[in-house]
Amino acid sequence: MEKMVIRGGRRLKGEVLISGAKNAVLPLMASSILTRGWNIFRGVPQLGDIATMKLLLGHLGLEIEGSEDLRIRADNLTCSEAPYKLVKTMRASVLVLGPLLAKLGRAKVSLPGGCAIGARPIDLHLRGLEALGAKINLNHGYIEAEARKLRGSKIYFDTATVTGTENVLMAACLAKGTTILENAACEPEVVELAGVLNKMGARIEGAGTDIITVEGVDGLEGVEHRIMPDRIETGTFMIAAAITGGEIKINNCRVDHLDDLLSKLTEAGVAIVPEDKGIRVTAGDRLRSVDIKTLPYPGFPTDMQAQIMALMCLAEGRSVITETVFENRFIHVSELKRMGADIQIQGNSAIVRGERKLSGAPVMATDLRASASLILAGLAAEGVTEISRIYHLNRGYERIEEKLSRLGADIRRVKG
Ligand code: UD1
Repeated sequence: MEKMVIRGGRRLKGEVLISGAKNAVLPLMASSILTRGWNIFRGVPQLGDIATMKLLLGHLGLEIEGSEDLRIRADNLTCSEAPYKLVKTMRASVLVLGPLLAKLGRAKVSLPGGCAIGARPIDLHLRGLEALGAKINLNHGYIEAEARKLRGSKIYFDTATVTGTENVLMAACLAKGTTILENAACEPEVVELAGVLNKMGARIEGAGTDIITVEGVDGLEGVEHRIMPDRIETGTFMIAAAITGGEIKINNCRVDHLDDLLSKLTEAGVAIVPEDKGIRVTAGDRLRSVDIKTLPYPGFPTDMQAQIMALMCLAEGRSVITETVFENRFIHVSELKRMGADIQIQGNSAIVRGERKLSGAPVMATDLRASASLILAGLAAEGVTEISRIYHLNRGYERIEEKLSRLGADIRRVKG
């Protein structure tokens, strides 16, 4: 098994290029199921989750070529079953459910089950598809869905769900009549998906607000599209600059997707200036603590909570970080404490008292964003931090150690 070994204490300096957004690519790849002809997605990051989605689409009979410029064609879609072994490694595999049902009239997809950050049910995906007329049964760990023809309907999501909105949105594109999604997720990745579906020939309005309207059409055509930059990778590098007392120019990023993070970092004393198709992030002298509450977009992203907690471990004062999206997303806390952090958990809040320093230690990655938080802490800590179980990191950060090394970090991936 691979480990990441970091010798902390180097100020990061230089420029970094942000990769395409993982959470935008995954639904776009699934949306190919709905189309005829080739889709070409440009700027696709090389990540574990993308490889899993390729395997899954290949299993369904889709043709897939290339990597950074990814070509997908569903003209020979044959199979409607997403097996357990592929769904269990990546929950987002469930994104094929809506498209398969809309295209083939049937789908059999393994139930994803819980994961380290919470139970993560998919009841809202299923209720949405049922409202479109699907008959759904749960059998032997599989969702079996069937519908001769989906019909437009009005659907209210009790909780704003990102992949739930995406799944039902994709299915509604080929339903007969009008579908209205209420309390839809507003995340930029949903807007990206709706934009691409419209390019494919769908008729969607309102994406980016909590009410999305879809007029069903008979079919969709393949398109060419460049993937938007990853906002969570962008945020992670902003914090890498801040936590090391460094200065980084971040290229290929959309700051308008990161309003809440930007205002929190500015409040903490980090200088962020737009500059020539990117931003320059400069750490302040001593960081100040800020309070954080994770919320659906445009609120503070839960996918940045672990990383900002690493930063708050070194800020002056006391920070209250409240997680409202997932029920169990503080597993990084015990690892940060092993590095000398002062954090107490009270219900769904973590009370962080900033220290002058962290010290390197052997720690274990527990999920994707927790891994990023440990890397950030390691970059700032005195001495050596060894992070094990970094396969989580490979799922969502493209060549992170290379990017950080180029900025001057002492970080290596080693075997053993
Ligand atoms: C997506 C992102 C993930 C991010 C999360 C929240 C992808 C591939 N993943 O995950 O990185 O952390 O959004 O921004 O885009 N819920 C239900 N029932 C459902 C669906 C969701 O109760 O049927 C609950 C969840 O348990 C959670 C909340 O809704 O508490 C939001 O989850 P959701 O937006 O669905 O997360 P994902 O789409 O799985």
